[in-house]
Amino acid sequence: PDGRPLAGRKAVVTAGPTFEPIDPVRGLTNRSSGKQGYAVAAALADLGAEVTLISGPVALDAPVGVTRVWVEAATEMKAAVEAALNASDRPADIAVMSAAVADWRIDGVSTGKIKKKPGGPPSLALIENPDILAGVSAPGPKRPKLVVGFAAETSDLEANARAKLSKKGCDWIVGNDVSGEVFGSDGNAVTLFTRDGAEPWPRQSKTEVARKLALRIADHFKA
Ligand code: C5P
Repeated sequence: PDGRPLAGRKAVVTAGPTFEPIDPVRGLTNRSSGKQGYAVAAALADLGAEVTLISGPVALDAPVGVTRVWVEAATEMKAAVEAALNASDRPADIAVMSAAVADWRIDGVSTGKIKKKPGGPPSLALIENPDILAGVSAPGPKRPKLVVGFAAETSDLEANARAKLSKKGCDWIVGNDVSGEVFGSDGNAVTLFTRDGAEPWPRQSKTEVARKLALRIADHFKA
């Protein structure tokens, strides 16, 4: 009935930053507009995929035809990703983890607002957040067929992206050189690292990067 290349395929996409509360009014976060991840969700949906977008706090509308789940902290993002991946008894086809997950969260979030005191500022104890991409990539009956991560690097893109591929166990890494102007901008220069190659893509809009990635994913499933 639907001749689009990803019709019938299930995809889970993460996007945006996470927000790690310190107390009810403060938090730690990462820089991410969510634009690239939202564009990927939109491009996958355009090709016919059934897309669940797990989004941290951003100021973007959900793409047409995409189911959005709002989250704040990394632990919530992980739970939402797992719920989406476990929603059906078959493994999802595609997972694209593009969120800028905070590496740490506060150990012992205060239930009340922390007051300024004469003794000086409070110290914050941090604990490591779970690596959502590594968890999704781990072998098992519910591992998505194709897991794609992102790597934002300011130097040694290839070495860092390759290290991330093997450390996290994902299938592809979209390597992103963030030494120039990327955050919040509409343009992006990326290289797609697969297990057997590297494809540098010329600088183009985040929408174009997303479309190209979605087409590349469709090709993968056709093969
Ligand atoms: O290790 P690094 O944060 O550079 O890896 C980036 C990739 O890993 C991105 O795909 C990001 O969405 C994912 N990630 C994750 N959970 C974390 C940290 C990163 O899913 N806690």
